[in-house]
Amino acid sequence: MTGLRVEGVYKVFGRRPNEAVKRLRDGSSREDVRPWGTAAVIDADLEIRSGETFVVMGLSGSGKSTLIRMLNGLLKPTAGRVVLGDDDLSAVSAAQLRSIRQRKVSMVFQHFALLPHRTVRDNAAYPLALQGVDKAERRRKADEALEMVGLGQWGDSLPHELSGGMRQRVGLARALAADTDILLMDEAFSALDPLIRREMQDQLLELQQSLGKTIVFITHDLNEAMYLGDRIAVMRDGRVVQVGTSEQILSAPADDYVAQFVADVDRTRVLTASSVMRRPAAVAFAGGGPRLALRTMRDAQVAAAYVVDRARVLRGIVRDADAVDATRAGKDTLHGLIDDSLTSVSVDTPLAEVFAPAAESPLPVPVTDDKGRLVGVIPRAILLEAMVPPETSTPAQGTPVAESATPLLDGGPAAPLSVPGLPEEPAPAAPDAHAADASTAAPTAGRTDNPTEVRA
Ligand SMILES: Nc1ncnc2c1ncn2[C@@H]1O[C@H](COP(=O)(O)OP(=O)(O)OP(=O)(O)O)[C@@H](O)[C@H]1O
Ligand SMILES: [Mg+2]
Repeated sequence: MTGLRVEGVYKVFGRRPNEAVKRLRDGSSREDVRPWGTAAVIDADLEIRSGETFVVMGLSGSGKSTLIRMLNGLLKPTAGRVVLGDDDLSAVSAAQLRSIRQRKVSMVFQHFALLPHRTVRDNAAYPLALQGVDKAERRRKADEALEMVGLGQWGDSLPHELSGGMRQRVGLARALAADTDILLMDEAFSALDPLIRREMQDQLLELQQSLGKTIVFITHDLNEAMYLGDRIAVMRDGRVVQVGTSEQILSAPADDYVAQFVADVDRTRVLTASSVMRRPAAVAFAGGGPRLALRTMRDAQVAAAYVVDRARVLRGIVRDADAVDATRAGKDTLHGLIDDSLTSVSVDTPLAEVFAPAAESPLPVPVTDDKGRLVGVIPRAILLEAMVPPETSTPAQGTPVAESATPLLDGGPAAPLSVPGLPEEPAPAAPDAHAADASTAAPTAGRTDNPTEVRA
């Protein structure tokens, strides 16, 4: 397997890149050198180990894509070196670079451009065709890669017959078929629906267990970074400001910018609803009538179903008893049966704020997207499970779940306090100074300054 080294790398776009680098080296800022060019990557030093999943995160424009494109020689650094295994990419010929790119590095992009008129198999085999591999071998390797990503049956289909998530799997299969040691993934899952995205993340982790590739994964999603990354590099304005495990970054952010990424530090705030949600067991269509709703509940063996309209927007829930009554009364619509008092949360609601609705409701808390569409649910058991120390769930990963029960205990009751517009309950008059201290301290405990770190 092959690792990667990035040594003092700069990339400046513009008219006088070398002048800009000289000035940056002399201490000028990115803004100072604007007249000479855009400094996309500034003095980056990274050692990406063979077999690790290395995540690069940072705000838009921080230089992530520019950096990853220098790793496979698509872009040439203005200064510095990229060393891939034993090859210094800046020192090899164009022909050598092409060959290194074909044999050693594959790239998976956000919007994977599949060839629309070629079969899924041919799409997966595409890099092998470029490598000049013979037809039978191409077919064998492509089918093997499709099998790995769960698309073994789809080789003869055309891309348009596949869902978005499946197409992205073809993109992944294509990279796997090339059988390169290094996989570069630039926002590879960002265009996918949250649940599909979660499945892809799980699949990548699973594949990585057996394949042990060197993966450089770019994302601006902290959940994804923490879930996938053995180590994470945080970029800001072209510079790598911190490299570390998710634990290290959570517990000792290098500066305010990084601290902002891991805002409030409490892990129940780092994980969001989308990272733990599951598929709802029963969903009834608002226009479908009580009989259909009942059948859905019966099939799923549940006593209530979530009701959505034609656009999948969540309307509420319907209970089995109400649907039975309505059916007996000969009603053919769910009108009047829908209970809309259930609190839903959005995909990016921090888990800390899911505890309150979960405690109120006997049903899993519905999760909706920015258009109010039902995208998943969070059963209470799943919520609690997400707080269990990492040893018992995913031992190999620096999973951002709480490492002790403390954040859960503090995170739960604290949540209702943050409901905007709700007047806080006045605290009972404190009988003495000591009690007053305790009551004012309570809401912030377990957030920034609670030393819950328990490192093995
Ligand atoms: N080909 C180019 N020519 C000129 N400027 C560029 C070019 N590519 C990138 N830049 C600039 O370099 C900076 C870094 O861009 P880059 O695409 O690497 O950021 P990013 O972190 O990948 O952002 P995003 O999250 O939006 O994808 C930006 O200011 C961008 O405008
Ligand atoms: Mg980018």
